[in-house]
Amino acid sequence: MSSRFKDQEHLIRMGVLLLAGIIVFFVLRGVMVPRDFGEYGHYRGGALEDNRARPAVYAGRKACEECHEEVVAARKGGRHAAVGCEACHGPLAKHASDPAAAKPGRPDAKTICLVCHLENVARPAKFPQVNPLDHGEGKACSDCHKPHQPKIS
Ligand code: HEC
Ligand code: HEC
Ligand code: HEC
Ligand code: HEC
Repeated sequence: MSSRFKDQEHLIRMGVLLLAGIIVFFVLRGVMVPRDFGEYGHYRGGALEDNRARPAVYAGRKACEECHEEVVAARKGGRHAAVGCEACHGPLAKHASDPAAAKPGRPDAKTICLVCHLENVARPAKFPQVNPLDHGEGKACSDCHKPHQPKIS
């Protein structure tokens, strides 16, 4: 054998190892990647069905308004009128489909208001925001503001 191929054994071993690696990759890929992957581009087709099967936790404002007309009336004309009920009350689909079976609690005005109104440079300057250390005398926001109609007078 010419000296040029003296060390070919090393090359063959490496080649076999590389090939084995490639085969293992495709076998694992075949086992682990779901069949419906790629059906709609880089997505798993069945994800749509999976999501559809999950129960909805939000009922949507329209559902709330059908039963709670008194709250609709209270919010009318105020700047909270456009804020979704469940933004403050949390997801209430269970309550909306059976009000007697799932009676919701009331949001805690000590914490819920500041989720949106805590002074923060990241918020648009025009958005009403307060620093609770120098606003409200340490009382609960709802001592002075009505949550459904927050402007005082
Ligand atoms: C099908 C009619 C219906 C729908 C839809 C509905 N509610 Fe109610 N809700 C009721 C009734 C009836 C009660 C009173 C339950 C009780 O006293 O046992 C109630 C009670 C409540 C209470 C507690 C009131 C209290 O006095 O503490 C809150 C808060 C509330 N609903 C918010 C909502 C929100 C927010 C939505 C929309 C996601 C909603 N409701 C959808 C009928 C409805
Ligand atoms: C900005 C936050 C916020 C939004 C938006 C909001 N609520 Fe409320 N809601 C509250 C808070 C806080 C209370 C508790 C008030 C209390 O403890 O007296 C409350 C109380 C209630 C109650 C108990 C009875 C009453 O009138 O106090 C009902 C019913 C209710 N909300 C329904 C609704 C419905 C329906 C909507 C949408 C049409 C809605 N809320 C939108 C914050 C909100
Ligand atoms: C989910 C977000 C959100 C929550 C929670 C929230 N607000 Fe608001 N609030 C708003 C928006 C949006 C506006 C209107 C801003 C605008 O018109 O530029 C507003 C406006 C206001 C205003 C100005 C009213 C006026 O007419 O000048 C006050 C006061 C206020 N909120 C108080 C409260 C209080 C008190 C709570 C707690 C019970 C609360 N907010 C909870 C979103 C929220
Ligand atoms: C002692 C009464 C009192 C308490 C408690 C209180 N506020 Fe106010 N707040 C006022 C008054 C008065 C105004 C000015 C009149 C108005 O805009 O309604 C005001 C105005 C606001 C405004 C509008 C600011 C603007 O730039 O337009 C927001 C937002 C607000 N309050 C949020 C809150 C939040 C959140 C809490 C709870 C941490 C709270 N307030 C507690 C009395 C109070």
